[in-house]
Amino acid sequence: MTSCSVGWVVIMAQSDFDAVLRNGQYDYIDFGCSKGGSLALGHRLLGGTKGIGVDVDERKVEQTIDAGFDAVVGDVTDLITQPNCTRFVTMVDFLEHLPSIDLAERCIAAACEAATDFVFIRQPWFDSDGYLFENGLKLYWSDWTGHPNAMTSLEIYRVLVKMTNAARWRIYSKTLIKDSSDLAVHPVSSPRDQHDYDVAKHGSKRKLKFKQPVYRQIGAIILLKDDPQLLRQIEKKTKWTKVLFDSGDPLSLSDLRSRFRPS
Ligand SMILES: C[S@@+](CC[C@H](N)C(=O)[O-])C[C@H]1O[C@@H](n2cnc3c(N)ncnc32)[C@H](O)[C@@H]1O
Repeated sequence: MTSCSVGWVVIMAQSDFDAVLRNGQYDYIDFGCSKGGSLALGHRLLGGTKGIGVDVDERKVEQTIDAGFDAVVGDVTDLITQPNCTRFVTMVDFLEHLPSIDLAERCIAAACEAATDFVFIRQPWFDSDGYLFENGLKLYWSDWTGHPNAMTSLEIYRVLVKMTNAARWRIYSKTLIKDSSDLAVHPVSSPRDQHDYDVAKHGSKRKLKFKQPVYRQIGAIILLKDDPQLLRQIEKKTKWTKVLFDSGDPLSLSDLRSRFRPS
């Protein structure tokens, strides 16, 4: 095994990650763990007991280990999954960093194969880019060079319908941004790769009360077993603003029919 010791944890070469998964010793796996924030989320909000992070960046893996978690260096898009080797998989602010939707789909499929209970996804909201652009505005994370895969709700939906082993899944939005005074909103002319809006740095921006829902985040919970109580537990802890789609109620047909009945 190609490995090196950092403190009390071993950073393994990517090829050794399969062995870690085969062991089945981890309760949850975090794809794209960075410095360990999402491993902490997996423990705090999702009930994880022993998690392991995977990140392609060795420096970040070291930071995760320094934060007290186990982590390995690896490219998740190359992961050969061991079926049912862990209870759940998290992907928090990860999928948008991948070069394409196809690779995101590969990661989600690997997660659905690895987990016995559920997969948790959360990332920035990209659905409002056209509306904001028309109004001379943008969300700063929509214009990061590090976010080549800006998946919208429809694109996430198109990937999730292919997860045939999923028992049920829901797509959610989180935290409404009501108007352009929010610091996440920039004028289109702001440079790329910015964080919070600062008038001195980014220039003035249009004042606009949004006529469409603009959110901070989008996410999904994919249940791999039919367990409505588990879904309720995760939803309660992770505090979404709105359910955008529920595979258990795909077209909400009765609701749509009543809303669009000709008068
Ligand atoms: C924004 S950070 C994730 C933040 C982290 N999940 C959290 O919530 O604290 C995105 C991470 O994905 C990692 N990453 C990008 N592509 C990857 C890949 N193919 N395999 C594994 N990690 C990858 C990057 O190195 C980076 O650390």
